[in-house]
Amino acid sequence: MTNIRVCSSADIQEGGIGYRFKVLYNGEETSAFVVRVDNEVRSFLNRCSHVAVEMDWNYGEFLDDSGRIIVCATHGASYDATDGNCLGGPCSGSPLVSLDVTEHGGEVFWQPSNTITVPPEGIED
Ligand code: FES
Repeated sequence: MTNIRVCSSADIQEGGIGYRFKVLYNGEETSAFVVRVDNEVRSFLNRCSHVAVEMDWNYGEFLDDSGRIIVCATHGASYDATDGNCLGGPCSGSPLVSLDVTEHGGEVFWQPSNTITVPPEGIED
């Protein structure tokens, strides 16, 4: 499968607003996002492991003030933004689903998988 360009590197600042995009997860349209933590890009489905709802507080806002923890806006589950592992709250040990992203040449790319694929109308959210 080919790499899909998601956004420009400049679109995601360390600990800042995440960049949202659309994906199909097991054939169902949902959103995903990329954030930058420790100057590396990390990407997860925008789907809490507690209840399958979007997690952002405002559009693209996932990280707490530390810039290292994703907090779900619905009931406050918290996840390590470096690996998506549950840190506490209603996620009860269940991690986020991660996506395979890389960064080169000032751009961020996503490698689709068997379960997370490109929607027919593209990834723009
Ligand atoms: S839906 Fe995310 S904490 Fe409940």
